[in-house]
Amino acid sequence: MNTSPKQAAAQAALELILPQLKREMVLGIGTGSTANCFIDLLAAHKQAFAGAVASSEQSAARLAAQGIALYDLNDLAQLDFYIDGADEADPNLCLIKGGGGALTREKIVAATAKTFVCIAEAHKRVEVLGAFPLPVEVIPMACAYVMRELTQLGAKPLKRADVVTDNGNWIIDAAGLAITQPLALEAQVNAITGVVESGLFASRRADILLLASHTGVVHLE
Ligand code: 5RP
Repeated sequence: MNTSPKQAAAQAALELILPQLKREMVLGIGTGSTANCFIDLLAAHKQAFAGAVASSEQSAARLAAQGIALYDLNDLAQLDFYIDGADEADPNLCLIKGGGGALTREKIVAATAKTFVCIAEAHKRVEVLGAFPLPVEVIPMACAYVMRELTQLGAKPLKRADVVTDNGNWIIDAAGLAITQPLALEAQVNAITGVVESGLFASRRADILLLASHTGVVHLE
C-alpha cells in the first residue's frame, strides 16, 4: 500500500522520538488526520512509554482505542514531546492551527512540552500565514462582539456553523489576514475580551517541522 504524505510525516516523527522514549515518559498528542496517523503508528510502541495527554476528546478516544493510557495534564510537571499537525506553517515555524477546532487544548498541551514536533503535508508551508482563516475560540455570548473586533483588525470573520468545542465554546474563522507579525497579532487577538484562545501559534511555535510530500520528508528547525 502506498504511504500518504500524512503517514510519511507521522512516520518521520515516530523515528525522531523512538530513540528518546523512556518507560515513564508521557507524550502530548494533537488532533486531526495527521495526528491520527501518528497515534496509529505509536500504538505498536506503547510498551516503550507510559501514555499520553490528548488535546481533544477525539484524540483521547483514538488513543484509548489503541490501548494507550491517558493522563491528566494537571498530574504532570512537563511533557518531553508534543506531536501535532497544523493548517499552515511559516518560515519561522509559527503556525495556524485549529482547523479541527481543538486549538485551545492544543496550545495548552504544546505550552507544557519541551519539544513541539509539528507534522504536516508540504503544501501547509507558506511564506506568510493567513490564507487559511485564523480560528478563534470564543465564549458564545461574546461571539458578535469578537467578530466586530476582528473586523477592526482587518479580518473577515465567520462563525463556524454547528461547532461547539470540547470546552463548550464557539469558533470564529477570521479570513483575509496577511499575518506578517504573528507574535503581535496573537497578542492582539488574545487580548479581545471573550476570546478564549486563537489558533495562532507564535509565542509557542513549533520546534521541529516535518513536512512530507510524495518525494520525501523535509526536516526544519
Ligand atoms: C486541529 C488542528 C489540526 O492539527 C490541523 O487542523 C491539521 O489537521 P490535519 O492534520 O487533519 O490536516 O489544529 O485543531
